[in-house]
Amino acid sequence: MVDMTGKTCIITGGNSGIGKATALGLAKMGATVVIVSRGKEKGEAALADIIAKSGNRSTELMLADMSSQDSIRTLASDFKARHERLHLLVNNAGVYLTRRNTTVDGLESTFATNHLGPFLLTSLLLDLLEASAPSRIVNVSSDAHNGAKIDFEDLQGQKKFSGWHAYGQSKLAMILFTHQLAKRLDGTGVTVNSAHPGVVRTNFANNNGLVTFGFRLMRPFFISPKTAAKRILYVATSPDLEGVTGKYFTKTHEVKSSQESYDDESAKRLWQISEQLTKVSI
Ligand SMILES: NC(=O)c1ccc[n+]([C@@H]2O[C@H](COP(=O)([O-])OP(=O)(O)OC[C@H]3O[C@@H](n4cnc5c(N)ncnc54)[C@H](OP(=O)(O)O)[C@@H]3O)[C@@H](O)[C@H]2O)c1
Repeated sequence: MVDMTGKTCIITGGNSGIGKATALGLAKMGATVVIVSRGKEKGEAALADIIAKSGNRSTELMLADMSSQDSIRTLASDFKARHERLHLLVNNAGVYLTRRNTTVDGLESTFATNHLGPFLLTSLLLDLLEASAPSRIVNVSSDAHNGAKIDFEDLQGQKKFSGWHAYGQSKLAMILFTHQLAKRLDGTGVTVNSAHPGVVRTNFANNNGLVTFGFRLMRPFFISPKTAAKRILYVATSPDLEGVTGKYFTKTHEVKSSQESYDDESAKRLWQISEQLTKVSI
């Protein structure tokens, strides 16, 4: 087990599924772990469980809604008020929505939560990550990005909405962001990679149209959150990956992501739009 004593980590969606199991793994490695949850009750229950199972009392909870830019800004400033260092950011929180919703900022919810939220949080914490280098960013993406394209003419599904398209597009956006950010961070000691955790038995997309009867039948064959977390923890902590950046991992293997994810023009265009929509400049 990698010794993470003295390292500070933040993980979004740390109250449930893959995020919670990853936070528990980091706590067992001795890290100071901040889990981010949008719900107080769920967050407190997860925190108590992680502390009980790891015995690590340097674990804390911060509340934030990753679909709200004000909430993300408050999270970043609260984090900075309490911590002088950040060695690992895991952008894990994500949603799959079958119907088009908009956030408090008036943005389509899948795009806002899965891509713009991580884009904004990362940009706000980048100075701390650089000051703490060597440090890492892990973006929890998905193989569902395969076959997706960024629809620049209708990025937020205003003309036509499909949950599957919005989800795949958001996970592709995360990988384009990873590739572009890796270039910009060259020489800083901060690495950024994305990872597909596998098909995992979590609460993900429960209570919506993705969870069909067939999906439920397949559920016992999905991997556990603990197994998925081991994959994320590998990308987040393995000494084998020191200096490795701008890559995509499945299981514990570096693999090629889709052809679209290497389109530099798309990555630059998406970056510009993301900066405009979040009002930040990295
Ligand atoms: N499960 C899979 O097979 C699979 C496969 C590939 C990729 N992934 C990715 O893995 C990540 C974790 O998913 P999971 O499978 O562990 O599902 P999960 O148990 O549903 O966890 C998702 C987490 O994201 C949080 N979240 C969602 N919207 C949020 C918001 N607006 N603000 C703050 N937190 C928010 C959820 O909070 P609540 O508990 O409050 O809802 C929860 O903590 C997601 O990014 C997902 O796309 C999952």
